[in-house]
Amino acid sequence: MEIAAAVVEESLLGNPADDVLRRMLRAEHGVAQDVAAAAARLVFGYFRWCGWLDNSRPVRQQLEETLDLATRFARDPGSFGDEELACAVPSWVGESVPVAAAWLRSLQVEPRLWLRARPGIGPVLAIELGGCEAPYPAVSPDALWYRGTRDLFRCPAFHEGRFEVQDLASQLVGLVCAPRSGENWWDACAGEGGKALHLADLMENRGVVWATDRAAWRLQRLRIRASRAGLFNLRWGAWDGEAAPPARQKFDGVLLDAPCTGLGTWQRNPHARWTVRATDVTELASVQLKLLVKAAASVKPGGKLVYAACTVTREETQGVVRAFADSVPGFEPVPVGLPWRKASGPGTGDSNTVQIWPEELGSNGMFMAVWRKV
Ligand SMILES: C[S@@+](CC[C@H](N)C(=O)[O-])C[C@H]1O[C@@H](n2cnc3c(N)ncnc32)[C@H](O)[C@@H]1O
Repeated sequence: MEIAAAVVEESLLGNPADDVLRRMLRAEHGVAQDVAAAAARLVFGYFRWCGWLDNSRPVRQQLEETLDLATRFARDPGSFGDEELACAVPSWVGESVPVAAAWLRSLQVEPRLWLRARPGIGPVLAIELGGCEAPYPAVSPDALWYRGTRDLFRCPAFHEGRFEVQDLASQLVGLVCAPRSGENWWDACAGEGGKALHLADLMENRGVVWATDRAAWRLQRLRIRASRAGLFNLRWGAWDGEAAPPARQKFDGVLLDAPCTGLGTWQRNPHARWTVRATDVTELASVQLKLLVKAAASVKPGGKLVYAACTVTREETQGVVRAFADSVPGFEPVPVGLPWRKASGPGTGDSNTVQIWPEELGSNGMFMAVWRKV
């Protein structure tokens, strides 16, 4: 309770709760793993239930209320009516998102921890680690939901590069890109490399994946992860949307996993619900379109362009897709193909766009659009 209260108090001053938590736990040397985990759950629980709390009361009392609310929801989710669940997000969200009760309900559930086993080793790894389920073999038998309590970062399998912690929806982006062995891809906003590593792996360590980002420190982490995984088909460099692309030749595929408001991660990162502003949506939508137009210029004829954003706002999803189609000729839509959605119709496999909602697979929310250069 003490650590959680200190983290919440500092986060309320405007510092991201996950950063504050990490820093405070590091400063308090030797905090036991279970104590750290309980503090993290309470901090994230606070921001998950913040809309129900009387923010004028002392933080410790609000944390007590948080525990009561979380326990009630876990025991009897139906006792929270659909209208009451509107407290889960700020009211401006209704202007940009078709807010459904199922989405709000999913935001109040603790997020799943997803692992991406290296291609083909999911079933073996699940036995080795224990506490794993592969609930969607039709999507990927290598996507494991970890329900155990081990510190995975201390497992030999992690240090041997046999799995990555990666949300299921992010794994779907790699699967939708479906790069072929030996191809030449560009992941233009690669960050710490979650998706770039997946692409490199799907390409069986052959061909090249160029990973760029405007944040050099993020790419440093990608380098460490690539080395742990033994992936040699990655190259990296700086790109901020203004600089030239990382290579002269055009690419078989370009992925733009754009900076976004992250509403699709509000289950995992509940503090962001109260820090993202309505104006961020429009500002980021214009950045996304600019980056997409630039990245698209590097796709070779017949090559694939994939736009991804872990959000659910209209402006950053269909809005960007419409504006791109209106301003850039020469790209044809490619059906996304969604093995886990049975019915056909818009957004179920025939369309070149898909919005994944967190309640669908227990993942982050994610939007994707796919085109081919004619
Ligand atoms: C959604 S994150 C990428 C996550 C990453 N693809 C992964 O799977 O781990 C978006 C990234 O865009 C980068 N970014 C933000 N503005 C940018 C810009 N103008 N040009 C290039 N990258 C940018 C951020 O640094 C961030 O790493």
